[in-house]
Amino acid sequence: MDRPAERADKRRASPLEPLLREVLDGLRAEQPTLPCKLFYDEPGSQLYEQITALEEYYPFRAEVEILERHGAQIARALGEGALVVEYGSGSSVKTRLLLDCLHACAGYVPIDISREHLQQAARGIAQHYPHLHVLALCADFTEPVTLPARVAALRPRVAFFPGSTIGNFDPPAATRLLRNIRELVGRGGHLLIGVDVPKDRATLELAYDDPHGVTARFNLNILSHVNRLFGADLDPGCFRHEAIWNAAHGRIEMHLRCTRDHHAMLAGERLAFSRGQSIWTESSYKYPPGQFHAIGAAAGFAPESVWFDSRQRYSLHLMRAV
Ligand code: TRP
Repeated sequence: MDRPAERADKRRASPLEPLLREVLDGLRAEQPTLPCKLFYDEPGSQLYEQITALEEYYPFRAEVEILERHGAQIARALGEGALVVEYGSGSSVKTRLLLDCLHACAGYVPIDISREHLQQAARGIAQHYPHLHVLALCADFTEPVTLPARVAALRPRVAFFPGSTIGNFDPPAATRLLRNIRELVGRGGHLLIGVDVPKDRATLELAYDDPHGVTARFNLNILSHVNRLFGADLDPGCFRHEAIWNAAHGRIEMHLRCTRDHHAMLAGERLAFSRGQSIWTESSYKYPPGQFHAIGAAAGFAPESVWFDSRQRYSLHLMRAV
């Protein structure tokens, strides 16, 4: 019986320890889960970019449309000389739309968990805006973020959080994350955040389960990422992608449904999945404006403006830290 203790010691020595715990606890729960940040390894970040290019995935195009149509007004509301901090910067397509409108912004800090992806995107921005001070921060923004000393004095601060990523946290976690952002921008700072809105089931389920199978590959890739991180042997061939609109909770639920009994080893632990059981990999909450204002208020933000795309499929909120 001394073996588990020995294993625990080894795990404590590894920098992956907290993440490994999170993964093991999640997979052992009655409804198994995986933390959604594990989607974004290098292949996952590339697959996500392919998702954003899909006709079926309307949030991307809708948000681009909003930034194109209302950029000037957004820039006026944000004022001059702000430090822009972007949460989950990904490919930074939307960053360019925002930066093109902002006059004389003091600096740009993209935060992303996917290092290569982040560095590549930050280089692209720095080349495109030679006078802009760009400082990439590779971090898990679900934990409080400290800005690098070189930009720490710059005010006002604007947090830019596009992509409806806030929807990937349940309301209590979303509120905690917005509170952290509220601390970072400080009183009078702004939050510009993309929020998807509820709509008909067919549109929603197609956006999260496209006929080309890109979203399925993206979802399944999380298993390969776990295998690579922890030397596990989860078999993606035993799981099928599933996206279901849960109208009562206002969220799309993404699952990996087990198609046959399967067991896997993860860091010396045996995990068993039975046919029909699922791993719940992600939710994507959709909020009408009033509901999102309530979350913002609980985190210390007052609403300033909400913009929609021409088909009212998606919203961009501007909020001020109070
Ligand atoms: N933030 C994106 C969203 O909720 C993430 C996402 C898009 C996603 N498609 C996905 C996550 C498919 C998991 C599976 O819209």
